[in-house]
Amino acid sequence: MCGIVGYIGEQDAYPILIKGLHRLEYRGYDSAGIAVANSGDELKIYKAKGRVDDLEEFCRSKDISGNIGIAHTRWATHGEPSNANAHPHYSESENLALIHNGIIENYAVLKQQLINKGFHFRSNTDTEVLVQLIEYIKDLNKVDLCTAIQLALSEIVGAYAIAVLEKGVTDRIIVARKSSPLVLGIGDNEYFIASDASPIVEYTNKVIYLEDEEIAIVSRNEPPRILTIKNVEKSHEIIELEMNISQLEKGGYPHFMLKEIFEQPQTLRDCMRGRIDISCQHVVLSGIIDHKERFLDARRIIILACGTSWHAGLVGKYLFESFCRIPVEVEYSSEFRYRNPVIYPDDIIIAISQSGETADTLAAVELARKSGAFVYGICNVVGSSIARNTDSGSYTHVGPEIGVASTKAFTAQLVVLSMMALCIAREKKTIPDERIKALLKELNRIPDKIEKILQSNELISDLSKIFTYAHNFIYLGRGFNYPIALEGALKLKEISYIHAEGYPAAEMKHGPIALIDTEMPVVAIATDNGMYEKVISNIQEIKARNGRVIAVVSENDTVVKSIADYVIEIPATEDCFDPLLTTIPLQLLSYHIAVNKRRDVDMPRNLAKSVTVE
Ligand code: AGP
Ligand code: GLU
Repeated sequence: MCGIVGYIGEQDAYPILIKGLHRLEYRGYDSAGIAVANSGDELKIYKAKGRVDDLEEFCRSKDISGNIGIAHTRWATHGEPSNANAHPHYSESENLALIHNGIIENYAVLKQQLINKGFHFRSNTDTEVLVQLIEYIKDLNKVDLCTAIQLALSEIVGAYAIAVLEKGVTDRIIVARKSSPLVLGIGDNEYFIASDASPIVEYTNKVIYLEDEEIAIVSRNEPPRILTIKNVEKSHEIIELEMNISQLEKGGYPHFMLKEIFEQPQTLRDCMRGRIDISCQHVVLSGIIDHKERFLDARRIIILACGTSWHAGLVGKYLFESFCRIPVEVEYSSEFRYRNPVIYPDDIIIAISQSGETADTLAAVELARKSGAFVYGICNVVGSSIARNTDSGSYTHVGPEIGVASTKAFTAQLVVLSMMALCIAREKKTIPDERIKALLKELNRIPDKIEKILQSNELISDLSKIFTYAHNFIYLGRGFNYPIALEGALKLKEISYIHAEGYPAAEMKHGPIALIDTEMPVVAIATDNGMYEKVISNIQEIKARNGRVIAVVSENDTVVKSIADYVIEIPATEDCFDPLLTTIPLQLLSYHIAVNKRRDVDMPRNLAKSVTVE
């Protein structure tokens, strides 16, 4: 995955690059490196295993002066995290230094060819092969660096966002991308390069998003020149960013994850703003209205996503099937893309992705588009690759989500799916207008209800202490809350490293109930909805086997309270919006357990926020 940042201008590059790496650390954090230079200088390259803080520590006694530089925070794909494998990587002569986000799939063949020609390798990465290949082509064909990069990239299979510096050339950085994101920031006599806009936003709000197979020559005193790999000149619109710096800071919270959990009432209001009319009569989603016929004629909806976004997709299935009477399949993007799936031209594909960069979802979207289906994107990151590769879509508008564990993006995905389902249902007349009005009114009340749930933070923190040392957890839910059981288990796993499983509650008796004993905490979602009585029976079955039950219940519940060991109360709502409320206490429970265990909540081990490798 990795984060890339670059700077050329009149300021000192080092502080800008380091700050940028911190902003991108969510993308990878096993090693980091930097290359800086002054006019006429040699390249100074420093690398360190570990976090960006470790790199800073390492650079404390070094010469870090220079007003041009590139930097990288790594999430290893090829070669263990180590100083040698950290980027930037040098070419054979050390004339070129390159940073890379992505995977060079045909690196092994190319490496062997280069070794046969006498090249030596200092790392185990796929990336080093690329910088060596560029130098080989440059020297062989006696071409300039840009041409050598174009030629080398034509031989590459895989994904890349790269930035290259050349020794002695301190007025130019060359960058290129394919399937990994790259943004150029346009300042006053200074230019920025980054994997996303977060390192750029405090210096300028003017950006250019590079397209696949484009290369940009970013020179000191002139606007970037953009070409394709095939050397066709391109012109790009400069986009004005809406992001602001406070969205990238912790704002007094100990972790981004807690801040983002607490932001949810506001982010959901932002997500609904301008989309639900004041009188709650209807939803205005231009992405759907502009393509109304496609939705009215849809034979089927296929939802594509990974991880938490896939869980949102599962809730989407329940919403679309019950409100719109359209059959829905929810697919893991990674399976769909390699399965030779049947896709009809009158299918609607909905791709859900917070980052908009998840490699598997992007590839699945490309596959679906080739089959002629209409593709709708639900993304958070504006201008991201998936958003740009879909026919239509809706942004979730929750601002940057920094914590690796997705929270506010998830609830906003649920709100977008709810609005979509109600918008389509109104057009299809599958539910009466009065019912739509009632549901929209209730959707509008959800942010206030979440505010109320957040007041239980202390209580949930106390409860978490009882379960911090459990080795396994089971999460149960039914109907609309089944996906929330899966999501609750994923949240716990990824940030606390406790093994957890989510199940539809009634499936317990088909196997997992064998796991129940006094050591096994079971989190049961038992709110007062259409499945209430059924879930009570499932809780009884667990208590009969001495399981320990933490139940999420509706306010004023008495029945579950008398059976469960611990309860967390939440306000009542419509069944279809229950996930928006039931997920909140589960986010807080995972958060507090992880904090008790002293885990790195915002940057859990082995993970990265944006999974741009398959
Ligand atoms: C969420 O907590 C996870 N870290 C992860 O499952 C994530 O949802 C998944 O990688 C998909 O990301 P996307 O929404 O950016 O596509
Ligand atoms: N493949 C490169 C490496 O392992 C870059 C990794 C990435 O972008 O995730 O160093």
